[in-house]
Amino acid sequence: MTEIIVVHDAERAAAAAAEIIITLLRRDPEAVLGLATGSTPLALYAELAARITTERLDVSRVIGFALDEYVGLPQEHPQSYRNVITRSVVQPLGLTPALVHVPDGGLDSLDVAGHAYEQAILAAGGVDLQILGLGTDGHIGFNEPGSSLNSATRLKTLTPQTRKDNARFFQSESEVPIHCITQGLGTILRARRLLLLAFGESKARAVAAAVEGPVTASHPASAIQLHPDATVIVDEAAAARLQNLAYYQYAYNNKPQWPSSR
Ligand code: GLP
Repeated sequence: MTEIIVVHDAERAAAAAAEIIITLLRRDPEAVLGLATGSTPLALYAELAARITTERLDVSRVIGFALDEYVGLPQEHPQSYRNVITRSVVQPLGLTPALVHVPDGGLDSLDVAGHAYEQAILAAGGVDLQILGLGTDGHIGFNEPGSSLNSATRLKTLTPQTRKDNARFFQSESEVPIHCITQGLGTILRARRLLLLAFGESKARAVAAAVEGPVTASHPASAIQLHPDATVIVDEAAAARLQNLAYYQYAYNNKPQWPSSR
C-alpha cells in the first residue's frame, strides 16, 4: 500500500517523517536506515538530530546504508556522498561512523563494489526503513529512467538533466561526475518500509507519475507502487498534480486508530 500524506510545507513534512523514524528507533535501537542525499531530507535529518538529543535516544548501534555515490570523485571531495552523509547525517545524529555504509565509487573496485554492497545490506539483516528523495526525472537513488525494476546496486550513467540539477552543489556542471554507483530499484524494494519525500512545484510532475502513473522503468519512482509499505510525504506544491488528492487527504484524516494500524 502507498500512503500519501500531504502537508502544508517542507518543515511539517520533516516533522511527520521524523516521527515515523523516531518511533522505529525507540522500538529498535539496532534499526537499519537507508539514507538519501540531496537537499530534500536535510530538514528531516536536522529534526531527527534535535529529537535524538531531546529524547536522549541511544543511536550508537543504528546502522546506515546510503543509496548512492558518485564514481571517481575522491572521498575527501566535499560533494562525495560519503562526505555529505558524514556531514548531514552521521555527525548531527551521532551515529557510529563505522556502521554507516556508502557504496564505493572508487575506480579500482567498481566491478565488485555493487555485489559487496548488496552483501553488506544482507549481512545487516536488510534495510528497515529507506528514506527516498525524488529526482525531477523520476529517479530514486540514482536509478535513472530505464533502470530495471529489479536492479541491484551497480554502476549507472547520470542523465544530463540530473547533472544539471546537481550542478548547484559543484563549482560548475562539468565538475559533476557522469557516473555513479547506486542501490538498484530491486534493492530499494527489498527495504521493509519506504519513506519518500518531495517538495516544491518542480517535483509535482514526478510525484504524480510516481504515485498515479503506470509502473514503468521509464519513471523509476513508480516502482514504489510495488512496495507493500510505502509512505509518501509531500508539501502542497509537490502534491499539486495528484488527481486523487482529495481522497488521500480524506483517507489520512480518517486513518484508523485500531492497534494493527500504524
Ligand atoms: C540526487 C540523489 C537522489 C535525490 C535527488 C533529489 O540525485 N542521488 O537520492 O533524491 O538528488 O535531490 P534534491 O533532494 O536535492 O531535490
